Amino acid sequence: MPAVSVFGAQWGDEGKGKIIDLKAAEADVVVRYQGGANAGHTVVVAGAKYVLHLIPSGILHPGKLNVIGNGVALDPIKFLQEVEGLRARGVRVDGTNLRLSASAHVIFEHHRRIDQLSERWRGDGRIGTTGRGIGPCYADKAARTGLRVSDLLDPELARSRLRAALAEKNALIRQVHGEAELDFEVELSRYASLAGQLAPFVGDTGAQVRAAWQANRRILFEGAQGAMLDIDHGTYPFVTSSSTGVDGIPAGAAFPARWIERAIGIAKAYCTRVGEGPFPSEQHGALGERIREAGNEYGATTGRPRRCGWLDAPQMRYTLGWNGATSWIMTNLDVLTGFDSIPVGVGYRLGSKTYAEYPAALPGIEGLEVEYTSFPGWSEDITAVRHYERLPRRCREYVEAVEKLIGVPIEMLSVGPERDQVIPRQPEQIPAHAGAR
Ligand code: GDP
Ligand code: IMO
Ligand code: MG
Repeated sequence: MPAVSVFGAQWGDEGKGKIIDLKAAEADVVVRYQGGANAGHTVVVAGAKYVLHLIPSGILHPGKLNVIGNGVALDPIKFLQEVEGLRARGVRVDGTNLRLSASAHVIFEHHRRIDQLSERWRGDGRIGTTGRGIGPCYADKAARTGLRVSDLLDPELARSRLRAALAEKNALIRQVHGEAELDFEVELSRYASLAGQLAPFVGDTGAQVRAAWQANRRILFEGAQGAMLDIDHGTYPFVTSSSTGVDGIPAGAAFPARWIERAIGIAKAYCTRVGEGPFPSEQHGALGERIREAGNEYGATTGRPRRCGWLDAPQMRYTLGWNGATSWIMTNLDVLTGFDSIPVGVGYRLGSKTYAEYPAALPGIEGLEVEYTSFPGWSEDITAVRHYERLPRRCREYVEAVEKLIGVPIEMLSVGPERDQVIPRQPEQIPAHAGAR
């Protein structure tokens, strides 16, 4: 495992945290390269549940280096709370096993405030953001008005750059949104006072990760959100503000693209989405409710009920395709136990037109209707199964049919939230039609 990307292949919450934690056992370095505390990555170890928002999901393994790259939008308050929360549970976290890029952009209170006010402004057109200030922070990065972690650590720069930024944001907050301004001195002292606590973690993480790779260390890149939430290739404008896939790594971690050897997509055996925006295979009513209850589909960051639906094969071909996935991992397979019949999306209809592939060239995918093929379900509990051939026949048939439809090999199945609830697949268990690359 020299340098491997693990990314969400649907709309987020695919179980990336669990898989990263598992794979971290064989890695030396785990790197977050985009997103921020909008992410909620759940890891369950021996019944103890950890939800990580900013800190890489390798942190529970002693001796691993965890890196927050320059492409992450860093909320320093949330970061320090997360460090403290882990320490309180006996997890060692310090500047030797957790590094933070000096070039990561900082999320301030005004970003959070504007995120929430912009959502109110959009009204029915709201995105349903997590309210964590992600969009406004990345917007300022692109507008060149943001502050980086290194700026925060320099008292003079922090004062002058925050003063300039806040003057403009306050005008927006007051004149456009009609809300009370933030007080510059209060904000400056709130954030400048954190500099001393951040400093032990801060450095040139790009150089550190590249040096690790050159010393033959194994690097794992932990994607946040999902490919359908990608700023360029997702269901724009109902997306997050970063490059969630493999292409986010070179920019967001200062790591050469050509060093990334494998890309592993993570997807549930069905599909979920939180927030607004199109979700063609969504199931409203009793079926969606049944999946939500079976999968306990409530957001790890905001607690919102997740929208639930069926796996969508063209959508998966699309996201695994533009990421060049070498394999994928199907999570939450256990959640489908007990369904008589399991539909999978195989194409779309829009009026009189049909689409065999995900229609990325359309301005939006609202109104797409999904055409399904159904597979017979199974009723046996599979949460204790650890060997592929011990799965019920119909369960294997479902996995192999989906794999054939999608055309990318499934390297592992996950059958429960615990670290050990996985079924690795041996190469001979992957049919040739899965398109092994
Ligand atoms: P992430 O954002 O991709 O890391 O995913 P989340 O942690 O937000 O959501 C995934 C949820 O599914 C969490 O509650 C996990 O504990 C849980 N989970 C992960 N894998 C499995 C699985 O195979 N089966 C079941 N039932 N739950 C799982
Ligand atoms: P993980 O890493 C699921 C969604 C929000 C909203 C949209 C934009 O846990 O998979 P943002 O706050 O990023 O501006 O919100 O993206 N979203 C996620 N959905 N999982 C996530 O992260 C998400 N992070 C953001 O619900 O629709
Ligand atoms: Mg999540």
